[in-house]
Amino acid sequence: METRLLYGQPVAQELKNKISTDIHSLKKVGSIPKLVVIIIGEDQASLTYVSMKKKAADKLGMSSEILRFPPSITEQQLKDEISKLNKDMNVHGILLQLPIPNHINEKNVLEWIDPRKDVDGFHPTNVGRLTVGQPGFYPCTPLGIMRILTFYEIPIKGKHVVIVGRSNIVGKPVGQLLLNKDATVTFCHSKTEDLQELTSRADILIIAIGKAHFIKRNAVKKGATVIDIGNTFNEQKQVFGDADMNDLKGHVANITPVPKGVGPMTITMLLYNTVQAAKELNKGE
Ligand code: GUN
Repeated sequence: METRLLYGQPVAQELKNKISTDIHSLKKVGSIPKLVVIIIGEDQASLTYVSMKKKAADKLGMSSEILRFPPSITEQQLKDEISKLNKDMNVHGILLQLPIPNHINEKNVLEWIDPRKDVDGFHPTNVGRLTVGQPGFYPCTPLGIMRILTFYEIPIKGKHVVIVGRSNIVGKPVGQLLLNKDATVTFCHSKTEDLQELTSRADILIIAIGKAHFIKRNAVKKGATVIDIGNTFNEQKQVFGDADMNDLKGHVANITPVPKGVGPMTITMLLYNTVQAAKELNKGE
């Protein structure tokens, strides 16, 4: 079987063109969409991600700012900073880069961000909206996966999607999005018994577990679509997906490569969400 590689770049590019048009229209009415990214501490991977987010925003002509705080910041200080951003009419998107230090309660902090500026879609209000199928901000990687499936015309309705990984950032929200599109969804995780029996039933297998090349052909149905969210780095900073691409080639119909698969979509969806936030906030003024 010929295996098609689902690259993110053409999907991202098509959407960036649309975002760019929206930014021009907003600028004409005197509004420049602005994203503020908060980062706490010195985690190198997080610093890299954050600077990629800023670069991508700047490239499309948006405004962006990185606010860096030391790990010693208290919950109250962080709350005050977020409160300032919530009130600032020039700020449309607020993102708190995760993970954050243990002494700060992540669940509390995510609730302080105004849901209208919550471009990561992590506020319980937006999570609830996703669950009941109302418009709101939804998490970026799941949105990127949906765009890839649509772009490459992979059927969803009635199909069995198996998701390995139940994080609030990827696993749970992508399952909800697919359920809203009439897929039959199975969630698996580290405690799942007989994982392989379940993964091998999937029409679409979504893997977000963080174990390099964990999924091999014996765990996947012939002709399935595999969406690989893994990104494990070795000491040479090479990145590996959760799927063993060489083993799956010739066995699956579609697979997202790592790198260059879902990765390019995540930041694009963040910019998309920020422009949507700017449009909605302008309407309200
Ligand atoms: N850390 C890892 N992924 C993400 C993400 O999508 N958003 C934020 N804020 N932090 C992350």
